[in-house]
Amino acid sequence: MISNNRPVELYDLAPAADDFRAEVLAGFAAPHKSLPCKYFYDEAGSKLFERICGLPEYYPTRTELAILHRDSPAMAALLGPRCLVVEYGSGNTAKTRPLLDHLIEPAAYVPVDISREQLLNTARALARDYPALEIHPVWADFASPLRLPPARQTAARRVVYFPGSTIGNFTPPEARHLMRQTAQLCGSGGALLLGADLKKDPHLLHAAYNDSQGITAAFNLNLLVRINRELGGNFQVDSFWHYAFYNPGEGRVEMYLVSSVEQRVIAAGHQVYFAEGEPICTEYSYKYNLDDLLSIAEPAGFRLRQAWTDERKYFGVFHLAVDS
Ligand code: AVI
Repeated sequence: MISNNRPVELYDLAPAADDFRAEVLAGFAAPHKSLPCKYFYDEAGSKLFERICGLPEYYPTRTELAILHRDSPAMAALLGPRCLVVEYGSGNTAKTRPLLDHLIEPAAYVPVDISREQLLNTARALARDYPALEIHPVWADFASPLRLPPARQTAARRVVYFPGSTIGNFTPPEARHLMRQTAQLCGSGGALLLGADLKKDPHLLHAAYNDSQGITAAFNLNLLVRINRELGGNFQVDSFWHYAFYNPGEGRVEMYLVSSVEQRVIAAGHQVYFAEGEPICTEYSYKYNLDDLLSIAEPAGFRLRQAWTDERKYFGVFHLAVDS
């Protein structure tokens, strides 16, 4: 830590330690094998994800950033002065800075993340660059109900900022649940600023999850590397294929690891049988249109006030106000 850094105090909500072992075993015991996508993000997986964000085929990150750079002044004006901003996931300060640069006298900034290290890095970097801003990092899983730390300044309203299209990795029932919880957190007069990837030509979606350099494949296969390392597995990683496609009926990209041979693997002390061609589902990434968005937001009590998109309508940032 650089010595002239302003100290940031972590608010520890003790996120439940994920039971990787139990979730892997349950996923392999199910009739259709699956693994939760939250386990992609070990150290190697987080680095691979950073590389995905810069790939020519993976348009979401750069498209959202371009919208934020162009439209943050309008977003900040709509959010109004003296907001307390809660950010879900604190991964990328590049998406936070354009908003902070334009917000009018923000009351406080509260990043929430399950990764303690990532959270502290973000909070320290922003504390250095925004010396007047109150910053209260919260170590928690934003998908669980949150209590916010007391802020010194009185806020005019609470705003949840949820960029990155991570909403797409929640199934529609999970997304509706998260929206309800978020509306409660924002309270009357509050708002949600949400980034979501939009429905588009399936070929573009296919390319985004099947990049020519094989980084997405490595990201997907890294789950097996992680099981080998952390759960004493003996997966032959090269006996699985990365397979991803857009399912237009479901409106989602589906990502799988497919066993290329019949095999028996040891994972977490259990033997797991794979038929030749058997898939493990590792991720859904839902794509939205306006109706999809309203179907998760309106039942939670949000009303759409404004949407910003790029010229090609690849990505949307939505201002959703809590109905008062
Ligand atoms: C984090 N999340 C929004 C990414 C997505 O596009 O669903 C994760 C990802 N999976 C493969 N490529 C990127």
